[in-house]
Amino acid sequence: MNYDIKNKELAAEGKRRIDWADSFMPVLDLIRQRFEKERPLEGVRISACLHVTAETANLMRTLKAGGAEAVLCASNPLSTQDDVAASLVEHDSIPVFAIRGEDTETYYQHVEAAINFKPMITMDDGADLVSKLHAEDTNTAFVENIYAGTEETTTGVVRLKSMANEGVLRFPIIAVNDAKTKHFFDNRYGTGQSTLDGIIRATNLLIAGTTIAVAGYGWCGRGFASRARGLGGNVIVTEVDPLNALEAIMEGFRVMPMIDAVAEADVVITLTGDIHVLRREHFEAMKDGAIICNSGHFNVEINIPDLEDLSIEQKTVREFVEEYTLKDGRKLYLLCEGRLINLAAAEGHPASVMDMSFANQALAAEYVVKNYQNLKNQVYVVPEALDASIAKLKLHALGVSIDELTEEQETYLNSWTMGT
Ligand code: ADE
Repeated sequence: MNYDIKNKELAAEGKRRIDWADSFMPVLDLIRQRFEKERPLEGVRISACLHVTAETANLMRTLKAGGAEAVLCASNPLSTQDDVAASLVEHDSIPVFAIRGEDTETYYQHVEAAINFKPMITMDDGADLVSKLHAEDTNTAFVENIYAGTEETTTGVVRLKSMANEGVLRFPIIAVNDAKTKHFFDNRYGTGQSTLDGIIRATNLLIAGTTIAVAGYGWCGRGFASRARGLGGNVIVTEVDPLNALEAIMEGFRVMPMIDAVAEADVVITLTGDIHVLRREHFEAMKDGAIICNSGHFNVEINIPDLEDLSIEQKTVREFVEEYTLKDGRKLYLLCEGRLINLAAAEGHPASVMDMSFANQALAAEYVVKNYQNLKNQVYVVPEALDASIAKLKLHALGVSIDELTEEQETYLNSWTMGT
């Protein structure tokens, strides 16, 4: 089912938001201008399974400027911005298969529609497109056309690496997430800010003085913890990784097991990528009125069936906020059905950070077209030179210049004989 656009007003609003985002995406804009001249993606069919946001729209426009024929489906049922979808169809003639709030069946029908486009490159955020391509024998014919795929997020890279390790991955993948210009910025500052934005939009909570338990101190968790502290939150970190836990301590956060953290927390948030981080035992120990949410990719981090099982009543008390009344009378509040709060209740990461993430996507697509014949069915990092070029372009766009090594310094760094 193609996105059937009837409402031109919706498309016009989407276009205004896409243009606004574009003004914060100078690196992608430079790439788009070059792509318009060089057309490196001429005739290449690209199926993208990404959050349908204003920033993604600018990536899609860039791919098209490079000569690609591109279609887009959502990478999460709750993250689609319908005005953006409408605008891409209306103003850019880019087919979009996504409707905000679509049910699981429709979501997967839309992923299938993107597969039926017979892509030569896949672009994933969470690896749903690639796993569906691998899950069904009927998709074998489609797999054979594919040069390679790209993957936007940590969760997707983890899934794809396990496919590669098991020897079942059927085409190469470029792990855009692992580029330094992606995860150091998008995962940390993007998730940090947009997750707080989502919590605040959903609840209108005052963060100052609020005790917030953060599960996971990876790049996303540390970004969130630092931003929450910046707004005056009293942040507790929970971890399973000793190194991450030590880093959190040295950053000044309290670290403790989740079972102890929930006894103090007003807000509990998961950013781990793992399943059932919050479950029965934690709900049983939570404070009356605690707010529960997730900013990890999939809605598996909070065991919602456990929560339902403990509850005698459930009702929506505000957009994005579901109240669960437990048998002992306590009330717990679940945000956005446990789906990623930053995209479901807010607009995802700001354009300025998606600029670098999507510059990586666009350049990775160009790299695939030039190099796919030499790639194996493995997960590759974005080439270092390409990653570094994005950092340089971003600095340039920000109007920041930096020093260069002198010849003497370069020689010193490259020599092993000179200690003094
Ligand atoms: N992931 C997180 N934020 C996003 C955004 N604004 N657009 C696309 N994908 C995202």
